[in-house]
Amino acid sequence: MLVILRRDDEEIGRQAAQLIASAVRKKPALALGLATGGTMVGVYKHLVGLHKQGSLDFSRVTTFNLDEYLGLPAAHPRSFHHFMRENFFAHVNVDSRNIHIPDGTIHGNYDQYCTSYEAAIRKAGGIDLQLLGIGRNGHIGFNEPTSSIGSRTRLKVLSRETMDDNSKFFAPGEESPRCAITMGIGTILEARKILLLATGEAKSAAVAKSIEGPITSAVSASALQLHADVTFIIDDAAASQLSQRDYYHRVLEMTALLTPDRLS
Ligand code: F6R
Repeated sequence: MLVILRRDDEEIGRQAAQLIASAVRKKPALALGLATGGTMVGVYKHLVGLHKQGSLDFSRVTTFNLDEYLGLPAAHPRSFHHFMRENFFAHVNVDSRNIHIPDGTIHGNYDQYCTSYEAAIRKAGGIDLQLLGIGRNGHIGFNEPTSSIGSRTRLKVLSRETMDDNSKFFAPGEESPRCAITMGIGTILEARKILLLATGEAKSAAVAKSIEGPITSAVSASALQLHADVTFIIDDAAASQLSQRDYYHRVLEMTALLTPDRLS
């Protein structure tokens, strides 16, 4: 597990975009797992910037988003489909046939739909690089506390805490969704490489538990300790409860010296 410590969300966005860009340059037909949420806005801004400068081509990339709210059609301004269109897809050249985002409008037979989402990932050869945010309760995707570490794509009931966090994106009086379709922790762990981003003090407890705590289904992101190639990119505020910060800084210095391509 590599922990990259950066000053603020601007640096986080730039660093993450740089790593994604070099993965796409190395493998133009990359299968890229994507996330939504406030933390991701800067990443997409920088990726769009690189594309517009002419230095990044997404034409052969295939994407798989982690999750979507149940009940929200793609056109809904709070849907993750809408978020992805506004922040990324409308500005880059990902082929629309290669974009996969769980469908929030399905009714019944959720298992069948979720199995087909997993099959699409397999058909693309598996996810090469998965981008993740983290919830205050340690969720990745919408794998709320007590999610099984082996879980697959499925319908998931959102926790109260997540519903409260999400309510700020909905108009006053508008109820925020109670369920989502999300990739499972087992699905996420099959990605070849994982990049988790966290900013702000509110995430510091979840970040510390995920990196330095025991592996437990009470903190979904702690399952990432089982993965061989995970990079956390976190700002000073999100890193504030880590006890081994000095060590992570020293590892970073040595990484820059010995294997600089891991950072760019
Ligand atoms: C979104 C997702 C969630 C978010 C997490 C953090 O696709 O999977 O796990 O990454 O809730 O959201 P923000 O960045 O808004 O704090």
